Amino acid sequence: MRANWREGLRRDGTPFAFTCPSPRRYQHQWSWDSCFHAVAWSHLEPERARAELRTLVRAGRADGFVPHTAFWQASPRWRRAPFYATAGYRGDTATESIQTPLLPVAWEYAGGATAADLAALEAHARWLIRERDPDGDGMLTILLPDESGLDDSPKYDAVYGRMAHWKPGYARLVQRCRRARWSAATLTRTTDEHVEDVLVNTAHALSLRALARLTGDASWDAEAARTEAALVDRCWDARRGLFFDLAGRDEQRVEVSTWSALAPLALTHLPVEIRTRLAEEHLLHPRRYRARFGVPSVSMEEPSFRPGFNAYRTWRGSAWMNTAWLLVGGLRALGAHDEADALAQGALDAVQRSGFREYYHPRTGAGHGEQRFGFATLALDLPAGFCPSGPRVARTA
Ligand code: GLC
Repeated sequence: MRANWREGLRRDGTPFAFTCPSPRRYQHQWSWDSCFHAVAWSHLEPERARAELRTLVRAGRADGFVPHTAFWQASPRWRRAPFYATAGYRGDTATESIQTPLLPVAWEYAGGATAADLAALEAHARWLIRERDPDGDGMLTILLPDESGLDDSPKYDAVYGRMAHWKPGYARLVQRCRRARWSAATLTRTTDEHVEDVLVNTAHALSLRALARLTGDASWDAEAARTEAALVDRCWDARRGLFFDLAGRDEQRVEVSTWSALAPLALTHLPVEIRTRLAEEHLLHPRRYRARFGVPSVSMEEPSFRPGFNAYRTWRGSAWMNTAWLLVGGLRALGAHDEADALAQGALDAVQRSGFREYYHPRTGAGHGEQRFGFATLALDLPAGFCPSGPRVARTA
């Protein structure tokens, strides 16, 4: 993690300090990666966690927008530029897109948030609600598939078609968002390629709960409850026992079983019967998600389950450290400690076998993608796993 640390001044003099996800391929700052890095840093050097989270906020705007990717040291190279979700083609310091929001969750781990940090978190939560919930139903909308962090997940194949993240048409999707000035209100009214995403909204609810604890303002709990209720009312499929995304103007359910469909296991305010079904019928089911090394990103029963290596197949079955981290916490909240221990151990075995890799084959533990990958260090927070009611150790500055 120290080797991946980047610190300095942007060309305009703005200071930055963050962990790059990997020294070779991912040299910029990514939103949810930084939140995961902060969880890991909170075990080692919490001061770096705070510096990284403040850098992420600084990459955003005073109105509360926080970008998916921030280019601190260099602009994206011209060849890649069409694929970066920026306002224009040159000179941008960050994308106009978002990524699964986890800032308040990460701040709880980092500890020591000042009044200014909390004000920024509140502005960010308000921005998300104002700009990304155009129909006011309590659920955020994503415009690009990678806004969830699950770029090429098969759950987006039918929604985005030729504009999927791993297809050449993705550049057209970015261009269309640019023309609409990244307005979710416009794009949800005029197009069908947008998603009320279960993982994004699970993270949003977790963040709002964390924000309520950090600020002591119960109105954030009420916002979280609205999102949780919307997830249950609109995304819960009682027959299959999974949560499905809603896509397009007519809010079609996307019935593909990916780890996102299990993510609400981490929402402890959801009815225990629902969480038990997610755990027993899916997460712990040997033909679905219970693999030897971590939690596969797609159910092993899905035809699209293809965990092997390929640069364009990253979220199509492989196990990432955050899949195990989030769901181990959900299992613990249900009191299933033996199962949580086993699951955490499997993910740790993958690290033991292959190092800190971008993702792993859930059956063999083989490491794929980048080496020295930042958020694999979430392993430091296993076997405890994500703690839905706030980290057990109260951290102070
Ligand atoms: C890949 C992943 C995404 C991550 C980024 C940086 O695009 O799909 O989740 O944030 O790399 O590590």
